Amino acid sequence: MDERASICVIVGSLRSGSVNRAIARAAIAVAPENLDLKIHSVADIPLYNGDVEERGLPESVQELKDTVTECAAVLFFTPEYNSSLPAVTKNVIDWLSRTPQVLTAKPVAAVAATPGGRAGAGALAHFEQIFEHMAGDPRLFPSLGIGSYGDKLDEAGELADPATRAALADWLARFASFSLDAAS
Ligand code: FNR
Repeated sequence: MDERASICVIVGSLRSGSVNRAIARAAIAVAPENLDLKIHSVADIPLYNGDVEERGLPESVQELKDTVTECAAVLFFTPEYNSSLPAVTKNVIDWLSRTPQVLTAKPVAAVAATPGGRAGAGALAHFEQIFEHMAGDPRLFPSLGIGSYGDKLDEAGELADPATRAALADWLARFASFSLDAAS
């Protein structure tokens, strides 16, 4: 059996210098061999609108849903805005939660990186609250928060701190076991 799990990575920040995207790049670099992480751009996902949905899913939303259907798990790398999730992250979750249901029994998890020490605790609490109650029972894996990111990036804005890279690698290894167990 091919045990390499394809993981759909969603970054909930659209800005070019996103630290959360840099953390996602680091995750791709330190992921175990049995995880194949790919970032799926959500820059073209429109705001959720029930009228648009009734007329037929926008191409970008259909593509995202197809990718999520085909992958073994979904990983969100999200900022925290006002102690919660940014609209970009929440909007993607809202589209994904609608029929056709693509998150049924799907492993999901979030990583949040913040400049302050709370390490995205508010955003991650809301992320977990959303998935605990979603139809289709997505399988929620415990989140990872990365705080005080200013101390952990190099001059190019990439995740350089060895301890944080090791913690990310360890978390991904546990997420891999969880996702592969879910697929078998
Ligand atoms: C923030 N930021 C922020 N940080 C935090 O730790 N807790 C918070 O509640 C907020 N709230 C917040 C609201 C808004 C509207 C913005 C624009 C920013 C700061 C945020 O964590 C920081 O800008 C991150 O760098 C954003 O993530 P990306 O874009 O770098 O991935």
